[in-house]
Amino acid sequence: MLFYEQGHIKPIAPVKYFDAAHVEDAMRYMQKGSHIGKIVVTFPEDPMELEATTHSRDLVLRPDVSYLSIGGLGGLGRSIASWMVEKGARHLIFFSRSAGTVTSEDPYIKELAARGCSVQTFSGSVSNLSDVKSVVSSAAKPIAGVLQASMVLSVSNTFLQLFNTLLTWTFSLGRCVG
Ligand SMILES: NC(=O)c1ccc[n+]([C@@H]2O[C@H](COP(=O)([O-])OP(=O)(O)OC[C@H]3O[C@@H](n4cnc5c(N)ncnc54)[C@H](OP(=O)(O)O)[C@@H]3O)[C@@H](O)[C@H]2O)c1
Repeated sequence: MLFYEQGHIKPIAPVKYFDAAHVEDAMRYMQKGSHIGKIVVTFPEDPMELEATTHSRDLVLRPDVSYLSIGGLGGLGRSIASWMVEKGARHLIFFSRSAGTVTSEDPYIKELAARGCSVQTFSGSVSNLSDVKSVVSSAAKPIAGVLQASMVLSVSNTFLQLFNTLLTWTFSLGRCVG
């Protein structure tokens, strides 16, 4: 403060001011990286003068890509797939050990089709790398998202067996669409 009062040091110049209501302009100005001096954002005496807007960013899924649902014809998977269609998805791939036997005559597949959604179904196991590769290469549209909704329930599995199963599933999927 002493140096300042004695005039040895001065504020950085030039100073460019932006109202807080236009803070985005200040950020854009700084982003250019060509300014010198200081950028100052000024706030009104009464903060209530500032306009406040709330943004709720709803999920928007893409209609031009596929979403791959592993085990997605199970209970939860169907509900999630329907919700994804509500959010804009238009190409769904269902992959499970029995999904390939589900035809376009299935009431659920018909319901999805009626909502403008194309559906591919493939049989195979997510623990089998070549099955996963085959599904990925058969996708009608590039795969933009993967839902892991498969599970097996067993009372005889030890924790180690369960952990190994999870590792194998994750490994196969990760190799193909990670
Ligand atoms: N339901 C719940 O309350 C709840 C709660 C929390 C989390 N979750 C999780 O949500 C997911 C879905 O649950 P859900 O209730 O929909 O289960 P679900 O009805 O039993 O469906 C799971 C599906 O996984 C498929 N599957 C099993 N092994 C597979 C494999 N090796 N490869 C590919 N698909 C396989 C099965 O189809 P196939 O027989 O045709 O292979 C089955 O339809 C699970 O991961 C579960 O852990 C569920």
